[in-house]
Amino acid sequence: GTVYLSDYAPFGWLIESVHLEFDLDPDATRVKSRIVFSPNLNSPEQEFFLHGENLRLISARIDGTAISPRITREGLTCPVPEGEFLFEAEVEINPGANTALEGLYLSNGMFCTQCEAEGFRKITYYPDRPEVMAVFTVEINGSASVLLSNGNPGPRGPGHALWHDPWPKPSYLFALVAGDLVAHSDRFTTASGRRVDLNLWVRPGGDEDKCAFAMEALKRAMQWDEQVYGREYDLDVFNIVAVDDFNMGAMENKGLNVFNSAAVLASPETSTDANFERIEAIIAHEYFHNWTGNRITCRDWFQLCLKEGLTVFRDAQFTADMRSAPVKRIRDVIDLRARQFPEDNGPLAHPVRPDHFQEINNFYTATVYEKGAEVIGMLKRLVGDKAYAEALELYFARFDGQAITIEDWLSVFEDVTGRELCQFLRWYTQAGTPRVAVKEEYDSGTYTLTFTQSTPPSAASPVQRPQIIPIAVGLLGANGDEVVPTQMLELTKDSQSFTFEGLSGRPVPSILRDFSAPVILEHEISDAERAFLLAHDTDPFNRWEAGQALARETLCYMATSDARPNPDYLEGLRAVLRDDSLDPAYRALMLGLPGESEIALALSAHGIIPAPEAIHAARERLLDALSETLADDLPALLDANAVRERYSPDAAQSGRRALFTAALALWSRRDGGARAASEYAAADNMTLQLGALGALLAIGRGEAETAAFYEQWRHERLVIDKWFAIQISHAAPDAAVAKTRALVQHPDFNWKNPNRFRAVLGALAGNHGGFHSRDGRGYALFADWLLTLDPVNPQTAARMCTAFQSWRHYDGGRQMLIGAQLDRIATAGGRSKDMGEMIARIRAAR
Ligand code: ARG
Ligand code: ZN
Repeated sequence: GTVYLSDYAPFGWLIESVHLEFDLDPDATRVKSRIVFSPNLNSPEQEFFLHGENLRLISARIDGTAISPRITREGLTCPVPEGEFLFEAEVEINPGANTALEGLYLSNGMFCTQCEAEGFRKITYYPDRPEVMAVFTVEINGSASVLLSNGNPGPRGPGHALWHDPWPKPSYLFALVAGDLVAHSDRFTTASGRRVDLNLWVRPGGDEDKCAFAMEALKRAMQWDEQVYGREYDLDVFNIVAVDDFNMGAMENKGLNVFNSAAVLASPETSTDANFERIEAIIAHEYFHNWTGNRITCRDWFQLCLKEGLTVFRDAQFTADMRSAPVKRIRDVIDLRARQFPEDNGPLAHPVRPDHFQEINNFYTATVYEKGAEVIGMLKRLVGDKAYAEALELYFARFDGQAITIEDWLSVFEDVTGRELCQFLRWYTQAGTPRVAVKEEYDSGTYTLTFTQSTPPSAASPVQRPQIIPIAVGLLGANGDEVVPTQMLELTKDSQSFTFEGLSGRPVPSILRDFSAPVILEHEISDAERAFLLAHDTDPFNRWEAGQALARETLCYMATSDARPNPDYLEGLRAVLRDDSLDPAYRALMLGLPGESEIALALSAHGIIPAPEAIHAARERLLDALSETLADDLPALLDANAVRERYSPDAAQSGRRALFTAALALWSRRDGGARAASEYAAADNMTLQLGALGALLAIGRGEAETAAFYEQWRHERLVIDKWFAIQISHAAPDAAVAKTRALVQHPDFNWKNPNRFRAVLGALAGNHGGFHSRDGRGYALFADWLLTLDPVNPQTAARMCTAFQSWRHYDGGRQMLIGAQLDRIATAGGRSKDMGEMIARIRAAR
């Protein structure tokens, strides 16, 4: 059934304490619980209901007397005494049979847990809702050498460990890990002098040497949170465990973070620069949750963005500080447009704070996370840095130890600034991406910008009211100097004008600097003006954006006619690449063309039905044209950006490698891959190895290198994931399906492992031309695998349905083919609630 935010009612009891005892056994683990409940005087709730799924109840008692509760598929009810009482239960569960990777499960023989959002109910009977916070004590009996849970360690002996977490927490933050693990250890002393033991636990035999980077990143994150947010760590130990079978990136369980090994293990030989940067960000993200998520948590799951939006925003600030702020901003916008815009403009659109759902796991989305972070960025822009810092200070002071709502979050900003934020709340309650159209007027020294906003209505938000939109604007003079520095305009109405006086000539506007709001800007300007901004804009984001807009437009023309590439774009880009004063990482981003699915969306936004094969061909022609225009520059770029120093994943070096590999890919179109082949042979790090291999595959070469790559790395599972993915993502459109078919037959295609499944099927969905192959074979193969995975791992299967979300943009033939696959999935027997909800929403698209 569907759950509604408007139906929220507090749980009828509070929990004084929880004691859990685990007797671990791969297929018959016993869990004994002792929970002290007391009535919640703020709740009218009368019925005592505990969640519980797939549990075998052995016995239950209240205040020592055996009871026979009524058990359903969802949980347990029983009569309870008035006042405080002790509830005891013993249940049996089967971690070995748990392929969904939710609750307690086994990964390579290691016991581990994933409880967010509603996995704890698969461990024992409990009010499994985030507002119920309690102090946990956990005893573990098991044969593994390492037995971990949340909080601080108590006495332990062979086969036994005790953990006590003094900080009240919801059940979703519970974790347990048991395995024969080894630690990479370090220490951190907090600002107030608490000495914290840090451990990163891995399986012995190959992973020990991939821990150092994450550990250093953790220490940087701990220090940054003290310096920037005044937040200190609050336990004596901080444990991180690397797990191979994991549905997401990582999980912020109190004092015991569990990580997908792909999101924590790194070495120069096996990881790319992008992997290092992502690991640093995820380590920081999970660590930052200790305050934004754990100490202050969500009242209910509709408030998920309370912790996720804020924590993504904080980890982005951290990355900007550690690396380059403009580069981070551009990457985040690329990601937002690739993942969040399609969601917000299709059948899966939902507000940052959804108001109903069937399966909460389906709402760990780009909208909740990334748009949720954008919303906080806007709030900070609107109130200013100083008020933001004061509001956060007040937030931590006022709500520590509580489970709260978005209204509570906004209240600290209202109290600090005296400003009403009811219009701002719409960013949390309305779905859809606002369009902001701009008109300019200039008359003898007076320049006027008129903005008009509108958001297309959708099933999620049939009525759209105007948003408050911070629009950062600067004005440039004819010779490129800034005549009006950046100002924050606040668009609050449907349409509004802003005037600038005393100008000596008509300026060129730079609008939505630093991407100050997650909107689609509709500003019709000439190619010449875009080229001017590409050459002169003093805002690094908008300078990049000018190049992207030129590329997007030229690709749209090229995909629908036999238009030639826009020379303004090619020449402008060449000038930027020749400017050695610009950061190589930034120039590498400048060289990046919009992806094929972005072009498809841009075309359909203009009412044109995208033809995937034409888009692919257009992009190939533009790449050829770029390599021709830059023919004289590429050898010099390769020379200047070849890294000869010892490998380091820092921003400066990885920026040079990014520019180097981008130039190498273009150069391969000129020399037939000779240089890439020799770079491949000489590479001593994964960034160059994969960059060179990708350059070869993109021009239809690299067969021998692909085979050698496998032989070299067959024992490194995280590298083999890359091996699977790159072959499919770089396959030509007419070869991608066949390549995928061949690779799912490979003995290393272990589809029950989410990383491996995503490497293969995710790469197929990401190969726009291949996935949308006209004969429908891409759709059919993809649907086959969704149906195979769903009974085993509904969460990952359901997430991957998003590959179909934009299906209504395509031609009638493709819509028929996709529709048939959606029907097939919808009517398949035994499909999960997760998948059922996703497919129903996607099918409802018009
Ligand atoms: N809270 C975790 C994080 O943001 C993600 C948990 C996702 N859980 C889920 N069921 N999808 O790092
Ligand atoms: Zn998170």
